[in-house]
Amino acid sequence: MLAIFKIAAAALVALPLVSATAVAPGQGQAPKCDISQANLAAELPANLSALLPPSSDSLSQVTIGFGTQNYTCTGGKYVNVGALAQVFDISCIQESKVISTNIAAMINEIQGIAGGIGLENWLGSLASMGGFKLADHYFDTSSGTLAPVFNFQVSGGDFVIGKKLQDLPDPTNPAVNVDWLQLTAVAGDAAKFLVREQTAGGQPPSSCAVENETLQVPYAAKYWFFA
Ligand SMILES: *[C@@H]1O[C@H](CO)[C@@H](O)[C@H](O)[C@H]1NC(C)=O
Ligand SMILES: *[C@@H]1O[C@H](CO)[C@@H](O)[C@H](O)[C@H]1NC(C)=O
Ligand SMILES: *[C@@H]1O[C@H](CO)[C@@H](O)[C@H](O)[C@H]1NC(C)=O
Repeated sequence: MLAIFKIAAAALVALPLVSATAVAPGQGQAPKCDISQANLAAELPANLSALLPPSSDSLSQVTIGFGTQNYTCTGGKYVNVGALAQVFDISCIQESKVISTNIAAMINEIQGIAGGIGLENWLGSLASMGGFKLADHYFDTSSGTLAPVFNFQVSGGDFVIGKKLQDLPDPTNPAVNVDWLQLTAVAGDAAKFLVREQTAGGQPPSSCAVENETLQVPYAAKYWFFA
């Protein structure tokens, strides 16, 4: 139940909507709360600082993504074939360090309880209704190879297609939580760089038996967008 109380606290923190940080038109709806104090460097463990983007890039959005990682069984192993997720503004929650630095742990707790995924989806619907949805995340081949897309159309922005530059195992439970990543943009102007950290879930079982069997594994992660 701990997670429920924390999420409720998060909702309360989100209530007073203060002045937003301005963003360029392509970057979607401006954060609902000021993110000038949000600092990815302060949140990353020292041995994962390779994920930080160049200091010339400035933070445009602090978000959480909920969805599934998709796999296909190939030669006895689940191979990642993309993901489908929704991305939400958490700029107001980010102001509460207690919550923002423990999001992965909270999501793990929710995913661990019976009906947890339903709760996660319900929170996602609530956030959409509240105008907190910023983007859809999916994979497509429009850049020539299967690549991650973040499409901010739902919040009035453009899209960005990413390419992986850094891929580091989750520092707490890498068998359960997907890797932490740094991506650079190869197309689109919604962002120049993005970082996925504080991951929760998304890893498949270590082996599979039925060739070509597909699997969707729920996951959540904090995504930081830089422009
Ligand atoms: C991932 O799985 C979801 C749910 O089945 C599906 O809608 C989506 O198209 C899949 N995406 C990819 C890239 O496989
Ligand atoms: C970073 O440190 C943690 C805790 O000591 C460790 O579990 C993890 O494997 C390290 N990650 C890398 C990429 O070195
Ligand atoms: C698995 O999918 C591949 C590519 O679509 C196909 O060539 C192969 O025959 C399939 N194998 C099985 C066992 O279904």
